[in-house]
Amino acid sequence: MSITESDRLFIAGHRGMAGSAIMRRLKSERCTLLVADRSEVDLCDRTAVEKFFQEQRPTGVIFAAAKVGGIHANLTYPADFLLQNVMMASNVIDAAFRFSVRRLLYLGSNCIYPRDCEQPIRESSLLTGPLEKTNEAYALAKIVGLKLCESYRIQHGVCFHSLMPTNLYGPGDNYHRENSHVLPALIRKIHEAKDSDSETVTIWGTGAARREFLHTDDLADAVHFTFGLDDPPDWVNVGTGMDLSILSLAKLIAKVVGFEGEILTDPGRPEGTPVKCNEMSRLHELGWRHQIDLEDGLRMTYQSFLSDLEAGSLRSF
Ligand SMILES: NC(=O)c1ccc[n+]([C@@H]2O[C@H](COP(=O)([O-])OP(=O)(O)OC[C@H]3O[C@@H](n4cnc5c(N)ncnc54)[C@H](OP(=O)(O)O)[C@@H]3O)[C@@H](O)[C@H]2O)c1
Repeated sequence: MSITESDRLFIAGHRGMAGSAIMRRLKSERCTLLVADRSEVDLCDRTAVEKFFQEQRPTGVIFAAAKVGGIHANLTYPADFLLQNVMMASNVIDAAFRFSVRRLLYLGSNCIYPRDCEQPIRESSLLTGPLEKTNEAYALAKIVGLKLCESYRIQHGVCFHSLMPTNLYGPGDNYHRENSHVLPALIRKIHEAKDSDSETVTIWGTGAARREFLHTDDLADAVHFTFGLDDPPDWVNVGTGMDLSILSLAKLIAKVVGFEGEILTDPGRPEGTPVKCNEMSRLHELGWRHQIDLEDGLRMTYQSFLSDLEAGSLRSF
């Protein structure tokens, strides 16, 4: 939909890494941006969500809230990942329908696709095989969110649709030593190795697993773009369409950080799906492409890591 002055857009998860990038991207729009901290509206609480929709009457919703984490957190807390993400999606999507929201965009993740699906991953691979075990609970919850949007669209004719981002990175990422995703974990580890004049740094796994990374400012731009489409696909991939090995990523981060030691691997540690990269032709054909090159994005991200570290506000939980 084209966003107008009278629109009231609810950005769920506005303080998160993706949500804050979406807030930055939408600042120039003349609509009203609605936000609520978790302390005001816990999205797992159906009554609180209903009350918020009743009082605030959003006309559009961008759903960037989720319980998110890396392999360790997913393996340790699968019940929390499944239950909380299903509850948030069902509460918000149903409230959006019942309070006549005209447009809702749900952020999923490309971990919804089968572990061994054809690479790069096409949207049509959904539900064609078993999921990656290490994040099965989270992926199932995200599939529920996507399918809720699709089902409300089929049954009620509302324009609720989804974007399936690849791995994201950017300002405000989580640098927790165990619960973070691979890219922020590597930034922290390699920065600390440099700081302590260490001669080596050891990364999890063989380093051979291949991943794709998208800067959150690019994601926010894709959100703005797809939200503006008159007849968006039910779900569409968003990424760069380019992957690299985790060892190559570690070397690129070492270059950005200025770490000159050796990078060692630890094959005993889990490393998840061997390859994961989005096939991007659908979004490209619709007219959107990413703009931020990985090395430039890493330089910007490392600068914000250093600023947050200095200010004592580095996110680590
Ligand atoms: N990060 C990635 O690499 C990645 C990749 C693909 C897809 N995605 C998707 O992108 C979306 C955003 O991810 P992100 O990386 O931006 O995560 P994030 O930084 O952890 O942000 C998640 C946001 O959700 C909010 N939230 C979580 N539980 C809530 C609850 N019960 N009630 C209210 N708010 C709640 C958090 O609030 P608090 O500020 O209070 O914690 C936070 O603002 C998710 O749908 C995720 O699946 C992320």
